Amino acid sequence: MRFISGIREMQQESDSLRAAGKRIGFVPTMGALHEGHLDLLRLSRQHCDVTVMSVFVNPTQFGPNEDFSRYPRDIARDAALAESAGCDILFTPDADEVYPPAYSTWVLEENLGNTLEGRARPTHFRGVTTVVAKLFHMVKPHCAVFGQKDAQQAAIIRRMVRDLHFDIELIIAPIRREPDGLAMSSRNMYLSDTGRQEALALSRSLRLAERFAADGGLDAGTLRAIVENEITRSGAVTLDYVAIVDAETLEERDDISGPPVLLALAARVENTRLIDNTILKVETIES
Ligand code: PAF
Repeated sequence: MRFISGIREMQQESDSLRAAGKRIGFVPTMGALHEGHLDLLRLSRQHCDVTVMSVFVNPTQFGPNEDFSRYPRDIARDAALAESAGCDILFTPDADEVYPPAYSTWVLEENLGNTLEGRARPTHFRGVTTVVAKLFHMVKPHCAVFGQKDAQQAAIIRRMVRDLHFDIELIIAPIRREPDGLAMSSRNMYLSDTGRQEALALSRSLRLAERFAADGGLDAGTLRAIVENEITRSGAVTLDYVAIVDAETLEERDDISGPPVLLALAARVENTRLIDNTILKVETIES
């Protein structure tokens, strides 16, 4: 595995790879890697000749009172994991180069980012779209892999790629869960053993929702009540939102028949904000 941190060096390497006819796959991350990230790497390897993974804790996507300073950073561990999963190039740009002095240019998606996570974290998605657009210009990938765990992020990046004509194929990888159902996240390491147990209410509520849909339930209000009740009944989890929205436009839905529905939720366990989601597809029989 090769290590690159200079932006120009990364661009030149990508130019050479492209000139040699190689298909470049890209997995952007903030490090603190877990099996979910390694799934993204493996997917990229299936679709591309060379896979670049970036590790960059992007300051602009954290709000003033969020966990930027304590976000887990262990590049030696990340490098070993990335290499074990077949990463070809580990790209670790410096914040000073990514955001040069007097930096004043942003990439802003103005619709999908205003809801769900965007309500609680008003500047988050501007930071995400800006850094992902920059990383795309640095790595020049043919294809990029994101996780379904951050469903709204995936929808926003998809919109950005379309709107700004990035010639990049997006691949969205399914959520990787622990054996007990907890969605893998770098922030799970903030949880105590008790908190981790309490956090299982999130995935449990999603399984109940899937059962409701599989049994023919359609009404979004009833579905929301089932999910909210499961999450809040222990009293240990503070619910932020349960959203039942169109999976592509993120517009609220009253019932779950028709185009795929994203059931997304956010909650606080101890001091940690967790998100999880599932896509509900109800088969409609045409007469
Ligand atoms: O999903 C993440 O880890 C980050 O939001 C991303 C896409 C690497 C941008 O910093």
